[in-house]
Amino acid sequence: MTEKLWGGRFDEKTDEGVEAFTSSINVDKRLYPYDIDGSIAHCRMLAKCGIITAEEASTLTQGLEAIRLEIQKGQFGFSDRLEDIHMHIESRLAELVGAVSQKLHTARSRNDQVALDVRLYLKDASRQVLSGLAELRKTLVGLAVKYIDMIMPGYTHLQRAQPVLFSHHLMAYYEMFERDAARFAEGMTRIDVMPLGSAALAGTPHPIDRHFTAGLLGFSKVSENSIDSVSDRDFMIEFLSSASICMMHLSRFSEELVLWSTAEFGFIELSDAFATGSSIMPQKKNPDVPELIRGKSARVFGSLVSLLVLMKGLPLSYNRDMQEDKAPLFDAADTLTSCIHIFNRMLSRMNVRSQVMGDAVLCGFMNATDMADYLVARGMPFREAHGCAGKAVAYALKNKKELHDLTLDEMKSFSGLIGDDIFQFLTPRAMIDRRRSWGGTATDNVRDAIQRAQEALKKETF
Ligand code: ARG
Repeated sequence: MTEKLWGGRFDEKTDEGVEAFTSSINVDKRLYPYDIDGSIAHCRMLAKCGIITAEEASTLTQGLEAIRLEIQKGQFGFSDRLEDIHMHIESRLAELVGAVSQKLHTARSRNDQVALDVRLYLKDASRQVLSGLAELRKTLVGLAVKYIDMIMPGYTHLQRAQPVLFSHHLMAYYEMFERDAARFAEGMTRIDVMPLGSAALAGTPHPIDRHFTAGLLGFSKVSENSIDSVSDRDFMIEFLSSASICMMHLSRFSEELVLWSTAEFGFIELSDAFATGSSIMPQKKNPDVPELIRGKSARVFGSLVSLLVLMKGLPLSYNRDMQEDKAPLFDAADTLTSCIHIFNRMLSRMNVRSQVMGDAVLCGFMNATDMADYLVARGMPFREAHGCAGKAVAYALKNKKELHDLTLDEMKSFSGLIGDDIFQFLTPRAMIDRRRSWGGTATDNVRDAIQRAQEALKKETF
């Protein structure tokens, strides 16, 4: 006989090495508020269904609340011997309230209990991510309003391509983070399913009311199949998938900030509060925060892959392998939340060098497409116009000039269709404001997009 909760069947003591090896308490102790909420709801349901008395329920609830306080105050003793958070709470409850504590585990098992705890945890984590993403989008919209007049080179292949509004570039990230938020909100509908009462895997003979428990815990749905309930980890994988996509966006944005803060680009300067120096090179100001966000994206992708690999070979239903789901899940959720938060603060304090960005647009022949478009508007077929503008670029290159530095006569030598309005036509502002197609970079379009975003953000609730 051993002191373990399953001691009845065992003659020998558990090997100490095995206790340490199988213990997950260091990882899952943070589930304690959810475990206690779940147990209190379970106990109220048991009383409502006449499985335990109201008095027993109240004793159990008081014991559970006392444990909550002990843990909050750091007075609770954790030990590998008790394996996980469920066992810790149950065994402390026995110390506090005596024999009645043994009734709490009626009609449930740790298999449905852990599924419940993680679902409650992920609801909170998703809400936190959603609120962080809303803050980040607010910052982006704020910057887009502030810099609405600023022009920057737009890139393809990291080569200067066509001028765009800096705000248009920022609003591209707004779109990405808006899709991320939609993914987390959508994932919430699958997290929001109550598994408790599925017991070990087959359900329970006790006359429980799972819908009542769900109502108490704020779940919209009750899981349909007890086997699926204890073996489903899709909702975690979905969360990690959304987290990975979001980190990929943060990482791309970080990469741009790293590039933009180089002497080569010089488009931005990170606030001193978000950069670090070098221990050897006194002149250095390093963009460690965006670099680390870029680096931390790898951890989150790793967590997604961990869970996929963890689950892919498991037969139904619960298997102990699944205990390994929590470390990567918590790590990814913590990483994502802190990255969103710090990225947002860094972004709102970065200095933007409008002059450098604006000047960058004036070299690199970013108006060559527009010269061709000018000719097309005057009746020249596009292929021929492309050739004409190409010749103008070659000529200008040879003479170390930009297209807008050519004289009107030089311009006219490429086509008789060219008039003196060509230079106005080729200014960055004119190029931008002509791109009025839906979603294009024209200032009016961007203003409208900003307004739509502001209205959408006003409606956000968590
Ligand atoms: N610590 C376990 C986990 O995280 C809880 C469930 C254990 N169930 C069991 N039958 N051993 O998965």
